Amino acid sequence: MSDDQEDLALDLRAGLPDPLRALVKEFPRDGWEQHPEFQGLISFWLDRHLMFRRLCEAMIQDAQTTLDGGMEPRQMAGRLSRYGSALVNDLHGHHQIEDGHYFPRLTTLDARMAHGFDLLERDHAQMDGLIAGFVDAANTVLAGADAAGGATDRVGAFHAHLGDFSGLLERHLFDEEEIVVPVILKYGANGL
Ligand SMILES: [Fe+2]
Ligand SMILES: [Fe+2]
Repeated sequence: MSDDQEDLALDLRAGLPDPLRALVKEFPRDGWEQHPEFQGLISFWLDRHLMFRRLCEAMIQDAQTTLDGGMEPRQMAGRLSRYGSALVNDLHGHHQIEDGHYFPRLTTLDARMAHGFDLLERDHAQMDGLIAGFVDAANTVLAGADAAGGATDRVGAFHAHLGDFSGLLERHLFDEEEIVVPVILKYGANGL
């Protein structure tokens, strides 16, 4: 990885660099929904991102409620098992479709954005490790669900871990949206 690429790593950047913001300046986020190309592929794809965000929020909320004494650790573990599995499976599938299908097509449409798709692929590679870390953190909670003590420490550590994970996931989703959506709005979804 070059120094420039290093600076733009998921855990280091605070947003997209200016050259990659050329198209989102032309198609600002607050006008996306009104654009005739929005319905269909874009709205479906943004709904997937919304579901990832909601799953993270639900797990963070459950962990907080458990720490506050409002939910039994066993109940939290049952919900975590469902939400966590859904998040991991759906994220992996989503990244595979983006890397294997959408990005190779989208990257040919506007030369200014080609580096953006390289950046998103590097995000996905980094997220493989982050997802594995999430699985480990979740499994620690699940394995201890029936233990007599220590739930507060385990759930507290998971809550902190998930906060970091969801922050990095949000960075990826937000930046990906600002790269992908303007390209489709400008060039259309035909051929995707
Ligand atoms: Fe992605
Ligand atoms: Fe995505």
